[in-house]
Amino acid sequence: TGRLVVLVSGGGSNLAALLAAHDGPDYPARVVGVVADRASAGGLEIARAAGVPTAVVAPGDFADRAGWDAALAEAVAVFRPDLVVSAGFMRILGAPVLERWPDRVVNTHPALLPSFPGAHAVRDALAFGAKVTGSTLHVVDAGVDTGPVIAQVAVVVEPGDDEASLHERIKVAERAMLVEWVGRVVGGGMRVEGRAVTVG
Ligand code: GAR
Repeated sequence: TGRLVVLVSGGGSNLAALLAAHDGPDYPARVVGVVADRASAGGLEIARAAGVPTAVVAPGDFADRAGWDAALAEAVAVFRPDLVVSAGFMRILGAPVLERWPDRVVNTHPALLPSFPGAHAVRDALAFGAKVTGSTLHVVDAGVDTGPVIAQVAVVVEPGDDEASLHERIKVAERAMLVEWVGRVVGGGMRVEGRAVTVG
């Protein structure tokens, strides 16, 4: 069974979906650790309730960015991950993490990349007037939401949507995509050549 370490900043609905998947039959991966950048992340409670060990690596506890990057990599390494899943982790991952697990760090982003990268993807899609948006699962590289795409799912913007209602529908589609593709990546392997991602 593949070992997943999940990085969270927020409520952890994607984490909850991965935990639930492992309770089902034949899922090839299980969450062995959860790391947050803040003690208030709701995902930590979800992890504790599931009996999964957690760690908090908060930037405020470090003198500089390099110190935080190194500590984050150490906290993740303790759990010996096969795949690191950034699921609502609202910080850019530095070289210590990316170099330690090359092409083994993936991220969900609540838009169809390359549209609407960054921290306010749902708001930005609404403000632009997009009629279709969605979620992207991608390999993390050194850029912001620029890595090779593993999978995408489309979500239609409904008249009257606000940021919360649209994000909620995106998250429903997103977590199904995440569970499916993390399973495929862990179960069948993943090769990344340039922007081409082959799974299985
Ligand atoms: C998810 O929609 C995820 O794609 C997004 O935050 C949400 C976290 O939900 N991530 C980003 O916006 C990253 N820039 P969750 O905490 O309930 O899993």
